[in-house]
Amino acid sequence: MLAPTRDDRFSFGLWTVGWQARDTFGDATRDPLDPVEAVSRLAELGAYGVTLHDDDLIPFGSDDAERARRIKRFRDALDATGLVVPMVTTNLFSHPIFKDGAFTSNDREVRRYALRKVMRNLDLAAELGATTYVFWGGREGSDTDAAKDVRAALDRFREALDLLAQFVIDRGYDIRFAIEPKPNEPRGDILLPTVGSALAFISTLEHHEMVGLNPEVGHEQMAGMNFVHSVSQALWHGKLFHIDLNGQRGAKFDQDLVFGHGDLLSAFHLVDLLENGGPGGGPSYDGPRHFDYKPMRTEDAAGVWTSAASNMQTYLLLKERAAAFRADPAVQEALRASQVGELATPTLGDAESYLDLLADRSAFEDFDLKTAAVHGFGFAHLDQLAVEHVLGAR
Ligand code: GCO
Ligand code: MN
Ligand code: MN
Repeated sequence: MLAPTRDDRFSFGLWTVGWQARDTFGDATRDPLDPVEAVSRLAELGAYGVTLHDDDLIPFGSDDAERARRIKRFRDALDATGLVVPMVTTNLFSHPIFKDGAFTSNDREVRRYALRKVMRNLDLAAELGATTYVFWGGREGSDTDAAKDVRAALDRFREALDLLAQFVIDRGYDIRFAIEPKPNEPRGDILLPTVGSALAFISTLEHHEMVGLNPEVGHEQMAGMNFVHSVSQALWHGKLFHIDLNGQRGAKFDQDLVFGHGDLLSAFHLVDLLENGGPGGGPSYDGPRHFDYKPMRTEDAAGVWTSAASNMQTYLLLKERAAAFRADPAVQEALRASQVGELATPTLGDAESYLDLLADRSAFEDFDLKTAAVHGFGFAHLDQLAVEHVLGAR
């Protein structure tokens, strides 16, 4: 067993270990979890951070005295354990008023209420020292195309983020926003369904520099996307502000399994990307390794903590495997044979122009098409080496 340390920067949402396992078809199978207990158990297991929605800590409708009491207990638990709060978010999906969305509800009064709920919680986020604020628009979407003006909804989404960014700037908070895409569930179709659509949306925002992404493994995979590609593109844009790690088996309902308990090879390449920079190498991401999983409904209280530890254990094992993969001379040889590093070389030379390319007969007229056509890249061998490292066979 590899023991997680604070330097690994593992964090968990209060709503993950605290999930009572109520689903569409069945009642809760576990008792509520006191956030104070969550903090001490996570600290014992080696996590460094805990994250929350406003309502995870302060039940919706609490009066001011109750609110202050709950925040105080939580802060005392943080102080006692040294756990930090790297990220905070808002519950804009549970209460019935949000049934048609929050920032994009057809009901203007609901939209105004949602903005107030977020501003209030941004104050708390700043007070708790969070530097990332996540926007997961679970209810922002529709179940019928007849009922939603999607272009107007995107206008309202942008209006909300522009206003909230201004609020953060005016208050002098050290907070950046991270949009979390998801294709569906709870709505039939959610706005900003993938990393790609969120990136395009962010480029239209007034304070686009302070808005990035919080991609979740399962959400991209629900949409049939390659999560390693999605994260790579987010990194390429300088927009990987946070990450939700978990497991998912294919395009079905959001499973929120333990990290790696789904597409294990994809999880291996993801850890290799986050830790080693993947095939290109170099630094990539130094933020929290945040687990957004749900302990399976079949687990009792003990199973909650076993599965929480499993997330960190799997991450650390994959990190160890990825380091071994990168250090293996057979892998380095296979990478050379596969010309993986050659992709980093620009296609044209330093001072070369398209006129020079046009004049270069070796590039076209005299290009040896036959040799290039029959030449194999050896990717299958490289892939097998990765599989053998994941299996601990090398
Ligand atoms: C999901 C989402 C949510 C969000 C969280 C943050 O599983 O659909 O991951 O858990 O991450 O609510 O707002
Ligand atoms: Mn999810
Ligand atoms: Mn998530």
